Amino acid sequence: MYNEKVMEAFKNPKNVGEIENYDGLGKVGNASCGDIMQITLKIENDVIVDAKFKTFGCAAAIATSSTATQMVIGMTIDEALKLTNKKVVEELEGLPPQKIHCSVLAEEAIKAAIEDYQNRKAGKVTPDKIDMV
Ligand code: FES
Repeated sequence: MYNEKVMEAFKNPKNVGEIENYDGLGKVGNASCGDIMQITLKIENDVIVDAKFKTFGCAAAIATSSTATQMVIGMTIDEALKLTNKKVVEELEGLPPQKIHCSVLAEEAIKAAIEDYQNRKAGKVTPDKIDMV
């Protein structure tokens, strides 16, 4: 069902874990299946210097989160905000149509982590994030 590139990213995912002193944390859930993804980012001068993920989800969710973290490292936050699930799927040379929704988690988690970073920079920490700090 999955191509070789997806299987490789699933079997040997990169950037698994959580950055200890992260600058932004994004946690999102997939309403259709209940799977959860968390992405932490280390950001210096608005450039993403590190990204790690934890995903409780299917092979497509793990492969796309691994690939998405690899893609955003080195990007400015503006560039990372433009990263769509479509671009991540292209990087993986495709996903089965019924698995495209799984790739949306990585895009949303990165956007949520950048939003969290911007909120922290502005001195705003949203209440649901306080217990995660
Ligand atoms: Fe839930 Fe893939 S089935 S993210």
